[in-house]
Amino acid sequence: MNNQNSYENIILRVENDIAWLTIDVKDETANVITPDLISEISSACDEIKALDVKGLIIHSGKSNGFIAGADVKKFQGITDKTIALKFIHAGQALCQKIEDLPITTLAMVQGYCMGGGLEVALACDYIVTDNKASTKLSLPEVKLGIHPGFGGTVRSIRKIGVLNAMPLMLTGRNLIPLQASKIGLIDYCVPSRQLATTAIQTIIRKPQKKPLPKLNFLLEMSIVRKIIANKMRKQVSKHAKQEHYPAPYALINMWEMHGSKNNEMYSAEANSVADLAMTDTAQNLVRVFFLQNRLKALGEKSKFALKHVHVIGGGVMGGDIAAWCAMQGFNVTIQDMNNEALSRVVGRATKGFKRRYRKDKIKIMNAEDNLVTDINGYGIRKADVIIEAIYENLEAKQNIFIEVEKKAKPDAIIATNTSSIPLDEISKVMQNPERLVGLHFFNPVFKMPLLEIIHSPNITSRELLKQAQSFGSQINKLPLMVKSSPGFLINRILMPYILEAVTLVQEGVPVSVIDKAALDYGMPMGPLELADTVGLDICLSVGKILEDKVGITLPSTLDKEIELGHLGKKSGKGFYLWKNNQKIKINNSSWNGDLENIQNRLIEKLILESQKCLDEGLVSDADLLDAGVIFGTGFAPFRGGPLHSQLDISIR
Ligand code: NAI
Repeated sequence: MNNQNSYENIILRVENDIAWLTIDVKDETANVITPDLISEISSACDEIKALDVKGLIIHSGKSNGFIAGADVKKFQGITDKTIALKFIHAGQALCQKIEDLPITTLAMVQGYCMGGGLEVALACDYIVTDNKASTKLSLPEVKLGIHPGFGGTVRSIRKIGVLNAMPLMLTGRNLIPLQASKIGLIDYCVPSRQLATTAIQTIIRKPQKKPLPKLNFLLEMSIVRKIIANKMRKQVSKHAKQEHYPAPYALINMWEMHGSKNNEMYSAEANSVADLAMTDTAQNLVRVFFLQNRLKALGEKSKFALKHVHVIGGGVMGGDIAAWCAMQGFNVTIQDMNNEALSRVVGRATKGFKRRYRKDKIKIMNAEDNLVTDINGYGIRKADVIIEAIYENLEAKQNIFIEVEKKAKPDAIIATNTSSIPLDEISKVMQNPERLVGLHFFNPVFKMPLLEIIHSPNITSRELLKQAQSFGSQINKLPLMVKSSPGFLINRILMPYILEAVTLVQEGVPVSVIDKAALDYGMPMGPLELADTVGLDICLSVGKILEDKVGITLPSTLDKEIELGHLGKKSGKGFYLWKNNQKIKINNSSWNGDLENIQNRLIEKLILESQKCLDEGLVSDADLLDAGVIFGTGFAPFRGGPLHSQLDISIR
């Protein structure tokens, strides 16, 4: 056998007639598939063929996971299809080689097993995992504008059937071991301490695999494929337009044409991924992936030890912030002046989370066990982070901080969730104003990944800011540092866009036409539906602050609607009619105007305000600004961010 030192990213050893291939990619915190790794595993397979062993176990030398996927950097900026194809063919050839080994092969998985990692695992005869919720299996390529390319489109369908495999690839969602086991993606899921024994026993005993239900053969017939493919296209179109996100459609077309029983699908897969990788969508989604990693990494610079969060004010925001932090596994005390309101909001928050996370029992258990109501605010003395989320009133907030400062631990983070009051006005009353930081969450907290970390330049302590970023990462939000200024970053950028939509209403353009223009651009929600959701009164009050301080113009329609009591979703009427929190569908009004012009007017406002915020130094660079707008507003990710996408739009 080759000396193990001849490999840089893997170790090959034989123990009791079983070959163990340990993947431990050099200089990387996570295993990613690079051309070097592919060629090393491929050589190891050749070596293994020459050995007299019963089987091969592939596992990871990293504590965090098996393989995180193909090295995304390889696709960045790619313009030459032959280069893309070379990498894809190498990955496909490796998986084929593993599948063709004349011995029993098994992937032993702990932690994440994603994308190309799962494709390697699928090439093995068996997949065995531990049963921890931190172990996640997925084929998330679609989130990067491509689809699996190392044979995964074929092998996943062959292993779990098209009705299980396609949703996995079309959504890119993670499965925990129990879910993966239920659909047959993994063969065994056992406690960590039994993992190696189970792997060895599986190699020795070669247990028979349960065949796919017969129905799957039927589903592969070309006429049936056509019907299913049409249904899938219809389903996908509810979430993603083909011109914005071509990958899921390409995947469906491929299966419709070839079916997974046919080896032709392998070459179709390679060709399709190579084409997709060069699209603007894929390039921009890869950009967004790196921006997300950059924000995550910002939070890792401090070793802030978080155990206990205390939230003051259990309303819409406080209740959800508390429930969110509890779900992430931290102890949370929540304080409100109104005991009745407190139990109601906490109940609502946990119920809301339960509905959303009903499959994630650990998160729900956390939320229930870790959240304690605390009307007297005893938690302040013990908390590592104290977040104030009472109503938007300067004096009331100041009174809270006078008290909090007296009681808090000297090294605790003291924070406000204010959405409009400048930090230095609140902190004026504090003994140590440098201790106040803004932690601006977005509504709804469980949906919006961004957390603005607001600071007063020259006042807020630098160390505190690092700790606040670390707090953001620890509760699984994306922390972005923003200079304290009216509306901070996200509300400031959104408001001119919303107000332009209101101006268009004033000019007689139908509401549905305006929102459609934004949806067609790729926004997750139209600006008028957004205004209704936020509340027209809130839009007006934020608008007024910005009118004073950054010179935007308020359309008179907003005032008039509010005078009539039309506040949006919460009052049942705004730009739309609402019932039980649901928008009542309105018939699309016919309108013969220039839709592109409407779209340009809306998006131009958003882009221009983004540029102004950058020029004023609200965030430190254009990439961070793009990241903030994407993760704080849902701005069309396939466009890569408002500043990145400026060239796409013809500014009037
Ligand atoms: P809310 O009105 O739903 O809740 C405020 C809660 O604070 C109430 O339960 C009230 O009983 C409690 N409260 C008031 N004075 C108190 C005191 N002295 N001690 C303890 N509890 C007290 O308000 P909401 O919407 O949750 O907003 C809270 C803060 O979050 C505001 O500063 C707001 O600007 C900010 N914010 C709001 C967002 C939203 O979409 N609603 C988004 C981001 C930030």
